[in-house]
Amino acid sequence: MKRNRVEEDVYILAIESSCDETAAAVVKNGREVLSNVIYSQIDLHTLYGGVVPEIASRQHIEKINQVIEKALSEANMGLEEMTAIAVTYGPGLVGALLVGVAEAKAIAYAAKKPLVGVHHIEGHVSANFIEHPDLEPPFVCLIVSGGHTHLVVVKDYGEFEILGRTRDDAAGEAFDKVARAVGLGYPGGPKIDKVAKNGNPHAVEFPRAKVEGAPYDFSFSGLKSAVLNYINHAHMTGEEIHVPDLAASFQNAVVEALVSRSVLAAKELGYSKLAIAGGVACNSALREGMKQACEKEGIQFYYPSPIYCTDNAVMIGTAAYYEYINGSRHGWDLNAVPNLKLGER
Ligand code: KG4
Ligand code: ZN
Repeated sequence: MKRNRVEEDVYILAIESSCDETAAAVVKNGREVLSNVIYSQIDLHTLYGGVVPEIASRQHIEKINQVIEKALSEANMGLEEMTAIAVTYGPGLVGALLVGVAEAKAIAYAAKKPLVGVHHIEGHVSANFIEHPDLEPPFVCLIVSGGHTHLVVVKDYGEFEILGRTRDDAAGEAFDKVARAVGLGYPGGPKIDKVAKNGNPHAVEFPRAKVEGAPYDFSFSGLKSAVLNYINHAHMTGEEIHVPDLAASFQNAVVEALVSRSVLAAKELGYSKLAIAGGVACNSALREGMKQACEKEGIQFYYPSPIYCTDNAVMIGTAAYYEYINGSRHGWDLNAVPNLKLGER
């Protein structure tokens, strides 16, 4: 990809509001974090066992100004010093996205700054650049979040080839549903991760689904049903469920599916670098499983710190930097696109 020469430092004020985190950050030249402010609504949604879209939008409206002001003040910079304003415009909850998009447009218009709309998943992938100055495309990346499970080749900054995706539930969704079924509550991923540490991952052999003719695709609904059936059966027969064993066995099945396909893709397609991204990339068993498999195959493995795996605005600022230097600009007609496809602009 042809890149424009950038003579001066680029400061981006980035905004993220696609789900239940209201976040803003200031990022210098794509990889230097000057501030990272996240207001998480999780405690509020926990009361309802999942994200309530209407509550999310209202909370974003309440918090967004404070979060942006804090991001600028922690960076010790003023709005006038920003080079551009970036915002996630999809995919995500439409009402939640709209709050960030409207805010970014208003700020960019008032401050006479260019506006850069960012794809949320491109943001998750870009989280890997923040702490790894040596990482450059091309590489294989597994994106696993609450709403997405994609295996892609990052061909260049902002340029993706999708190798595989989930045919049904996203990996994080499976974690959340299984956690709810065993009474661990929301959000399920971190809770399963924690209790699984005291469990035996081979206690229950759950099915490993393969998608016929699509070696890089995933399917988690069969596994989720198998876990629910296991729980129902135990309830009916009065058997006690050992939650740590169940959590560890379920987690092991998910991790095996994610690791085997990602490593196969890197090997078959000849890539020497593999990265993971998204909320589920926090999972300790996934990180360990990937690390071991990559070491065995001589693949360099990259993963962001947990704070950059779950939703944040630094990753949006990093993605926006590469979009910006490649000439991407959005107009005042930028809208929230809840089902924005990866690679679409
Ligand atoms: O990327 P993210 O913050 O939001 C989306 O874009 O979806 O991902 C949230 C998802 C939730 O499903 C949550 O349960 C999962 O990431 N998650 C985890 C862990 N931490 C968060 N899943 C497994 N293990 C974890 N440690
Ligand atoms: Zn996300």
